[in-house]
Amino acid sequence: MVVILLGPPGVGKGTQALQLAESLYCAHVSTGDLLRAARRDRTQLGARAQSFMDAGELVPDKLILDLVSEHLGAIDSHKHVLFDGFPRTTEQAVGLRTVLKDADRSVDMVVLFEAPNETLVKRLSGRRSCPDCGSVYNTHYGPPDLQGTCDRCGGGLVHREDDKSETVQRRLQVYQEQTAPLISFYEGGKAPLARVQADRDVEEVYADFQAAVEVHT
Ligand code: AP5
Repeated sequence: MVVILLGPPGVGKGTQALQLAESLYCAHVSTGDLLRAARRDRTQLGARAQSFMDAGELVPDKLILDLVSEHLGAIDSHKHVLFDGFPRTTEQAVGLRTVLKDADRSVDMVVLFEAPNETLVKRLSGRRSCPDCGSVYNTHYGPPDLQGTCDRCGGGLVHREDDKSETVQRRLQVYQEQTAPLISFYEGGKAPLARVQADRDVEEVYADFQAAVEVHT
């Protein structure tokens, strides 16, 4: 099973993907996480991606497709895969089809998470992440026990550079211009698309997400 999680920044794709990946033992492929890891490891890819990410722009398609292709090659071909934040342009979606075809696979379904912009902006302003173990918190909705410290590993929490308000506005605009067209791309018959209303409690959103995935698998 190959599932794409589509939706604007801050809608909760990562939060939901982590929960489903745990319950179904599937591979969670987040291009945002892979790019941040490349930056931390100071690789050539990380250096090339940095200015795009800091400005809230998309990293060029070729770099992303090479990254995904390499990463997929290391995943057991029988394992379910959840793509989180990928594809983000029509060119990436077309490239993904080719990469999957080569592995005798295809996209089984797309889940579109939707929430009003006010909700997205509030969530991103409150997001705090642990660079050590990847745990994510929210100062408004789910703060850590001790402010600024990860409950899980004790690491120091950070506010992502691209979660600052000016960059968030640009990311929302980029989503509308370059990623939202994928909704009609998939609704046009490329793969079944389910919509999940994401401005509700994490558990309510998860129940609908899980049900949507079960219907299509
Ligand atoms: P990426 O890291 O993928 O960012 P994004 O898509 O903008 O998504 P986010 O991580 O901001 O949000 P999310 O939907 O995962 O929400 P989360 O679960 O964390 O990409 C970053 C950058 O990398 C891009 O701008 C681009 O430059 C580059 N990039 C990445 N992929 C690329 C690609 N394919 N092509 C080109 N460039 C690419 O939740 C957000 C907050 O809300 C958290 O604090 C969470 O705790 C909280 N929360 C979640 N759900 C709920 C809920 N139901 N109720 C209350 N709070 C909630």
